Amino acid sequence: MTAFSFPRGFTKDPIDQFRKWYEKARKSGCTTADIMTVATATTDAVPSARAVLFKGIENGGFVFFTNYKSRKGRELNANPRAAAVFLWSSGADKAPNLQIRIEGEVQKLSRAESEKYFQTRERKSQIAAWISLQSSPVPNFHFLQQAAAEMQDAYSGRKVPCPPFWGGYAIYPASFEFWRAGKYRLNLRVRYKRRRSGWSAQVLAP
Ligand SMILES: Cc1cc2nc3c(=O)[nH]c(=O)nc-3n(C[C@H](O)[C@H](O)[C@H](O)COP(=O)(O)O)c2cc1C
Repeated sequence: MTAFSFPRGFTKDPIDQFRKWYEKARKSGCTTADIMTVATATTDAVPSARAVLFKGIENGGFVFFTNYKSRKGRELNANPRAAAVFLWSSGADKAPNLQIRIEGEVQKLSRAESEKYFQTRERKSQIAAWISLQSSPVPNFHFLQQAAAEMQDAYSGRKVPCPPFWGGYAIYPASFEFWRAGKYRLNLRVRYKRRRSGWSAQVLAP
């Protein structure tokens, strides 16, 4: 069998590779660079997926913030594993041509980290975190607007604290896959798997 060699420009560390593509996407005006679709599953293997804002990489973990009582929060509580997808563009035509998949275990950020980030959010977003029992049915949209107005009054002149049911999660990838569109569907796929020390890599058929 022919020995593995990295495709030109690829780095040995997938996090470095992620940062390279992220910069490339941002520089070319990709509007989805900071969005990832996160899939979770119940303990009996029913999957669900949704877009969240990607807030960066902390100690190797891919961070997002949410309501811990939401559907994703409940699923992660019972089954702390997730898969996430980034869909980016790096060309002038802005067509999606890059995909990065990650899979791994998920941990909550510390209370201090969540509280610190919460304080950087706009006040109206802080209020929205308090009044939204995310993923629970509400009578109508007006109900939410009214609840936000009431909460605004309640916190008038005071700092809005981080709700105890709100905070960050970090996904620690055990694997990455980088996909780049090629001509005539000869797309490039490079998968990295975490090993005891470092990472192994393979090229996959498209
Ligand atoms: C572009 C975009 C960004 C979003 N960012 C977040 C986010 O950072 N955190 C979050 O909880 N929901 C975010 N949402 C909403 C989620 O997609 C989803 O509706 C919500 O989190 C409830 O999901 P769940 O019921 O599966 O828990 C975002 C939606 C979109 C379209």
